[in-house]
Amino acid sequence: EKLAAITLTEDKSLPAAKKIKLRDASPKLDGVRVEVNAWLHHVRNQKKIVFLELRDGTGFLQCVMGGNLVHPSIVEQLKREATVKIIGTLSIPPAGKTCPGGVELNADYWELLGSSSADLEGIINTESNVDQQLDQRHILLRGTRASSIMKIRSIALQAFREHFYHNGYFEMNPPTLVNTFCEGGSELFTLDYFGTPAYLTQSSQLYLETMCPVVGDVFCIAQSYRSEKARTRRHLSEFTHLEAEMPFITFEDLTDRIEFLICDVVERMLKIDGDLVRSIKEDVAVPKRPFMRMDYKEAIEYCVKNGIKKVNEDGTESDFQFGDDIPEAQERKMNDQIGCPIFLRRFPHAMKAFYMKRCPEDKELTESLDLLMPGVGEIVGGSMRISDYDELLNAYKREELDAEQYYWFTDQRKYGSGQTGGYGLGVERFLTWILGLPHIRDVCSYPRFTGRCHP
Ligand code: 4AD
Repeated sequence: EKLAAITLTEDKSLPAAKKIKLRDASPKLDGVRVEVNAWLHHVRNQKKIVFLELRDGTGFLQCVMGGNLVHPSIVEQLKREATVKIIGTLSIPPAGKTCPGGVELNADYWELLGSSSADLEGIINTESNVDQQLDQRHILLRGTRASSIMKIRSIALQAFREHFYHNGYFEMNPPTLVNTFCEGGSELFTLDYFGTPAYLTQSSQLYLETMCPVVGDVFCIAQSYRSEKARTRRHLSEFTHLEAEMPFITFEDLTDRIEFLICDVVERMLKIDGDLVRSIKEDVAVPKRPFMRMDYKEAIEYCVKNGIKKVNEDGTESDFQFGDDIPEAQERKMNDQIGCPIFLRRFPHAMKAFYMKRCPEDKELTESLDLLMPGVGEIVGGSMRISDYDELLNAYKREELDAEQYYWFTDQRKYGSGQTGGYGLGVERFLTWILGLPHIRDVCSYPRFTGRCHP
């Protein structure tokens, strides 16, 4: 039979409570009476006394309740993920006991704000497969590890922006609904745009370049879309693309700037909240400079010398030859064997996008680069851009692009062309690398890939 619920009342003779966020609970507030509003992250009911771990997004706090506060008629309301208002006094725990923030809360009053359903435990458990877990991503994100990763993601974006602002770049917001394509037509999402076809952008690069005469060095952090059919541990169909474009630079400048970006951003992240970053990967460190620079031609030679083979259509294996695309698996094998960041540079033009500048010393090659990181592979792709008007028109022709659609981009070559270069960095790939995670979807709030557009 159900007990009639007792009604708790706050003791008004106690000092007024100061409303705080959990991140502000620290030994400095020892002895202070506070009010917190939070979710119940963990509940440990020991009958006469209940230990709660509280979470409000800003941090965690341990809370102890006893007496009437855990009366049998109301204690059942203290379920995982219920929201509560709790008033109590902060105190430094006895020697030998540690808790987040260095203080615990001894409650003298609480109220239920939002109840939680007991079925939570059944929604996901250790038996759930990956797809069931992804269906419940909105719940899973509340977990300690996932929420730390989401915060680190935010810190990374802050660090990237700080890097750019500090170095004199302006941030732009290019359109993501577009009628041209940048990285080849095979992975485009097409949509009906008031009766004419349009695409979800693959890259903001072309638009960024038009901003160089406007603001100089420029960057953007925008969503890009690729209709990648493959379900791999590093491909998404929607990803956060950090791109930069810089006028009047050389290929060596471009390489150096990417190296500086990576090292400076890791350093900034560790400065913003190193403990949080290291809670996911203990030994995160700024990579050593300079990074290895390896020409595509040397990579082919490396593979041949080290027994990394090409797999032919009929399943047989053979040596790579100049002109072959080095697929993801083999590229990663090389990268993992070498064990450090590699700038892979100067790819043959036939393998690369239409806008890439040819190498002055060998017109078969382009001033292009990929930055490969151990464990993940490519996290950055970039190049110098064709700066000559006629050469660009020929490139459209060769790729069978409708030059008319690109008139605004072509105009960059007509009205004061200059040597620009730029790159795109996959924010999720960067995070997967720095946190040493097995799968790219772990760093997305709501990952999008083949077959998944929910929740
Ligand atoms: O190498 P990509 O295709 O280069 C470009 O799009 C250039 N237009 C960028 C530029 O020069 N402004 O893509 C750049 C980076 C890749 O290195 C990778 O990190 C990420 O974008 N990327 C993806 N990340 C997750 N899922 C996918 N399907 C990705 N495709 C590319």
